[in-house]
Amino acid sequence: MDVHEALYTTRMMRRLRPEPIPLDTQARILDAAVRAPNGGNTQRWHFVAVDNRKLIGKFARLFREARALEYEKFRTGKGPMVMPAPGADPATHAETMRRIKGSGDYLADHFERVPLLLFVFAIDDLGGANIYPAIWSALLAARAEGVGGVLTMVLNNSRDRVNELLGVPVEEGWKMAAMLTLGYPLGKWGLAANRRPVHEVSSRNGWGEPFGVEVPQPLWPPHGTADLAAAG
Ligand SMILES: Cc1cc2nc3c(=O)[nH]c(=O)nc-3n(C[C@H](O)[C@H](O)[C@H](O)COP(=O)(O)O)c2cc1C
Repeated sequence: MDVHEALYTTRMMRRLRPEPIPLDTQARILDAAVRAPNGGNTQRWHFVAVDNRKLIGKFARLFREARALEYEKFRTGKGPMVMPAPGADPATHAETMRRIKGSGDYLADHFERVPLLLFVFAIDDLGGANIYPAIWSALLAARAEGVGGVLTMVLNNSRDRVNELLGVPVEEGWKMAAMLTLGYPLGKWGLAANRRPVHEVSSRNGWGEPFGVEVPQPLWPPHGTADLAAAG
């Protein structure tokens, strides 16, 4: 797959088919992930794949509880999802949050059918900087395999229980950085068009100075976006 296609269409796919992801596909996804940059090449990362149905059932319950907690934070004006970026339109943000919640509800309600969970652990990940390149590489590599998923962090609300269920050696310093739900999507891949354009979020030679070029539409695909559906 063309690298630009992967970059532009790796959306969060919450509606997944229950078919398992073959082991050789999983191997290619993780083999690409471990090529990612990381400080000092210390590679202090560990990936736990979960495909045991009983265990997924336990995580399903935990996921719903953790999510309820997250949305309670949101309702009371706390947590990372509350504030849009400075200058962004609050009404657009509210609409985005409504859509994410709807799509997230689907995932939560169908969690038992997700074929694969991928828990990502790191030691001292520098606020995520040292692990997110690998996580994003995994999602891009998955995209190239036709596998979609969602990067989630809500299980941080139930971190201790996750560690217990997976037998994580926390005394060595391992901390969960993210949990990916992975599977073959039900819907179509679409362009990540719901982003503020480059010239609104970039400056040149000083904060707030014009970037110098306007990008009113995504620059991929080169011949327009008409043939790409919205993501599911
Ligand atoms: C650090 C991080 C945490 C996220 N946590 C969650 C999550 O817990 N649940 C979820 O459904 N999506 C989660 N997402 C996915 C975002 O909601 C998603 O990237 C955003 O809405 C844009 O959607 P798109 O990538 O499909 O265009 C997370 C993304 C990031 C980068």
